Amino acid sequence: MSAVAKKPEEAFSIELTRMRRRHLRKVLAIEARVYPRPWSASLFLSELAQRNSRSYLVARHAGEVVGYAGMMFTRREAHVTNIAVGPEHQGHKIGTRLLLALITEAIARASDTISLEVRVTNDAAQNMYEKFGFSIEGVRKGYYVETNEDAYVMVVGDAMSTDYRLRLQSIRNDVIRSYPNDTTES
Ligand SMILES: CC(C)(COP(=O)(O)OP(=O)(O)OC[C@H]1O[C@@H](n2cnc3c(N)ncnc32)[C@H](O)[C@@H]1OP(=O)(O)O)[C@@H](O)C(=O)NCCC(=O)NCCS
Repeated sequence: MSAVAKKPEEAFSIELTRMRRRHLRKVLAIEARVYPRPWSASLFLSELAQRNSRSYLVARHAGEVVGYAGMMFTRREAHVTNIAVGPEHQGHKIGTRLLLALITEAIARASDTISLEVRVTNDAAQNMYEKFGFSIEGVRKGYYVETNEDAYVMVVGDAMSTDYRLRLQSIRNDVIRSYPNDTTES
């Protein structure tokens, strides 16, 4: 009876670490649950092999992979290739924490422009991207061939600006306040 109840946010402290081959079983299981056309193991492996131009992270909670995200870097540009959180762990700012880490890396690599595609019906993801300052710059018709759905192209065009750094700092402060026990390994 003496157990002290954990605050819910403490229960979702996570560790961010580089995605490795050994994480793929759990990554693929999440992938299959959240996307109609999940990435294959060979696609992840080919992405992981491109060490200079890609960055993939996993979020672990209690040792289990609960989410992951990746980015591709070209000259002064970064592109979010994938971001997903297991359905039972969504809504605990894990997506926010992954995106924050990747965008921080993009800025460290001097990427001024950060882009991504998102389904026009994916309100949850769009809301998250808007918090990070992404705005809709265009539409790719029928981009998602399996459902013939359009994609919005969302872009941050001033990632190296002081204003954008302040926006990120405010997101980071909010996360640190809620999840002081998070750790990041590189
Ligand atoms: C998009 C996704 C990665 C977000 O991850 P998450 O950890 O659940 O998101 P967070 O808890 O960090 O939420 C960040 C913001 O996103 C928005 N959001 C998240 N879930 C939402 C929902 N169900 N409805 C509306 N907005 C939502 C909110 O604005 C939230 O900010 P708040 O916490 O201040 O309200 C997750 O929903 C997911 O894996 N979806 C399936 C895969 C996918 O669609 N990936 C994106 C492909 S472009």
